[in-house]
Amino acid sequence: MKRQGFVQAIAAFALTTSIQATTHPYIVTGADIVQGSQKSLPTFQVLKVVDDVALAKINDSDKAQMSHMMHEDHHRCGGYFAFETREEAVNFMAESKANKNNVVFADYTINQADLVNKHIQNADELSIRSTMLKLSSFKNRYYKSATGKESQAWLKGHWTDLTKHRSDITVEYFNHSSYPQPSVIATIQGETDDVIVVGGHADSIAGWWGRENARAPGADDNASGTATVTETLRVLANSGYTPKKTIKFMAYAAEEVGLLGSKAIAKDFKRKGINVQGVLQLDMTNHFGSNDDITIITDYTSEAQNNFLGSLIDSYLPELSWGRDKCGYACSDHASWTSQGYPASTPFETKKRDMNGHIHTSRDTLDNMGGTADHALKFAKLALAYVIELDQ
Ligand code: BES
Ligand code: ZN
Repeated sequence: MKRQGFVQAIAAFALTTSIQATTHPYIVTGADIVQGSQKSLPTFQVLKVVDDVALAKINDSDKAQMSHMMHEDHHRCGGYFAFETREEAVNFMAESKANKNNVVFADYTINQADLVNKHIQNADELSIRSTMLKLSSFKNRYYKSATGKESQAWLKGHWTDLTKHRSDITVEYFNHSSYPQPSVIATIQGETDDVIVVGGHADSIAGWWGRENARAPGADDNASGTATVTETLRVLANSGYTPKKTIKFMAYAAEEVGLLGSKAIAKDFKRKGINVQGVLQLDMTNHFGSNDDITIITDYTSEAQNNFLGSLIDSYLPELSWGRDKCGYACSDHASWTSQGYPASTPFETKKRDMNGHIHTSRDTLDNMGGTADHALKFAKLALAYVIELDQ
């Protein structure tokens, strides 16, 4: 809906004003054309995406082709605003969003190769595997059960141990008033209060009756994602990485019963006006069941940030293949953030049709995923690249 509004505004502008193919190299356009333009316009360089609007740089030599593409592929007239300076273009973007609720200025430029490469080589399969095994050893992590509370106490202690040498890192509960299981949040305080979130749900579920006592190891769903979040935190804490933005690692309570934990947190952040620049959701990262290594979920997520994730994989994990797929509904915590207007993405372990058939049963174990955390390791590397590049 929002994009339509902007796109229509661009079309109306283009109809009444002829955009000259001048030397104005900075253009503001719809975020949905970024991928196609990157492929077919040699000089097209994306600098920044603010939810549905993109700032890019382009040479005169590509402008005619760009207008043609907008018309042919996107059925749009004209389609971009051009400016002489980056500052003018950024001001224009801000103005065009001024009356909208959520002005999220995320800079998706990729230019931190040294830092990213240094960190991703420290991500460790065994660390992920042992966190996953420990979490799945609780009888269940159901939001109403005693073990669902104990597992969060263990996780809080584990995150505290991993970061105890860092005075800039705190680990806290986010308590929920209507059920006993808390969410857990670790914060690396940055120089600014802009926030980057890496999270996944910590609860598990199986069966229909007596869920408090049912065996629900939830190794894939979602000890794998929680362990991937943990590994991202561990690597950044160990390397002495001191971020500019504030990085928050989250293990949500009560996802399996309607995204309750993340919903409460996202609402609380919105109420407090916290500037969340991006949310990475890790839910099911260890079952390798499709040709592609990583599948980016396209519904209830940010298209612009999804494109950024794809570019991060291409840049830093070129040995991996990736694709996109729909969940079909608000299937995980990314939807809680999306509905509060924050850009969220979920890189998923398989295409939807190839998903792990053992989830929500007593058979969701590490043994049934081949016994290693090799697949989850890819997601930990992607999460590190995501945090470091979005932080700059
Ligand atoms: N991990 C699943 C979500 C999922 C399943 C994502 C398959 C992609 C493919 C999640 O924990 C879950 O089970 N979600 C519920 C919905 C939720 C709102 C209770 C579901 O999918 O039924
Ligand atoms: Zn899940």
